[in-house]
Amino acid sequence: MNSIAYLNGTFLPIEEAAIPVLDRGFLFGDGVYEVIPVYGKKPFRLQEHLQRLENSLAETRILNPLSSSRWQQLLTELIDKNEGEDQSLYLQVTRGTAPRDHIFPDNTPPTLFMMSNPLVGSPAEIIESGISAITEIDTRWSRCNIKSINLLANVLHRQHALDQGAKESILIRDGKVTEGAASNLFIAKSGAVITPSRGQYLLPGVTRDLVLELAQQDKIEAIEGDIDESQLTDADEIWVTSSTREIVPVTMLNGSPVGNGKPGAITLRLNHLLQQFKREFQNRAP
Ligand code: PDD
Repeated sequence: MNSIAYLNGTFLPIEEAAIPVLDRGFLFGDGVYEVIPVYGKKPFRLQEHLQRLENSLAETRILNPLSSSRWQQLLTELIDKNEGEDQSLYLQVTRGTAPRDHIFPDNTPPTLFMMSNPLVGSPAEIIESGISAITEIDTRWSRCNIKSINLLANVLHRQHALDQGAKESILIRDGKVTEGAASNLFIAKSGAVITPSRGQYLLPGVTRDLVLELAQQDKIEAIEGDIDESQLTDADEIWVTSSTREIVPVTMLNGSPVGNGKPGAITLRLNHLLQQFKREFQNRAP
């Protein structure tokens, strides 16, 4: 499939997109990114993703290269230029290209790169059976609310899970759960849902916030607060969320079943509500 990307003002085939080696994203990981799902050619929760991008740029003091309306225009063009009703948009802004020096360069325009990938989602078996996860000490930095392109710790955590036959690594800092290596985390215990509070140790996931909204509308008791490691191992249900994988039940934790070892009723209910919400979004007039 021909994939069309966008780089600094130009749409071009992805194979032709190249950045200079002095780009600070390449040398320092000095940049931020977003992943936005597209359903029926329409970007999902776009305002929320653009707001989080704005926050990441402000936190890292990188100039936002575009106005909100220009972002929307370019993303719409990117969607139209790529095949597929459902897509996964990736966008990245770095501090630009300059001689290597830790200090911010003067008068250097940010690098802006965007691409579209097919949105694969989670296969039906995953919803039916769930995934295995492991727990690990969170080795990341203390500004995880920034969607930074520095993902080395996340990459190592995720690979470590895979090496152990699991699909996600659930991260623990000072005895409390933060999130997954590439997802947010929820537990349910005795009918009540808990997800860790926003803050510097986790990414404020767009899917997480939507799941909280859906729970509230459905009168499911859901709170944001600390989850101790012991609460995690004692949970009736665990699930993780992300824009590309949506809601994924975790049915095995460190080799032991979670609850009865099957996706739980609250997980499945929230997934049903999320699927319904997506369908309504797709059917809404543009
Ligand atoms: N990552 N936490 C981390 C560390 C993540 O990397 C992600 C998603 C999330 C979920 O956020 P959202 O619901 O807004 O997608 C939480 C994306 C999908 C990625 O890096 O590919």
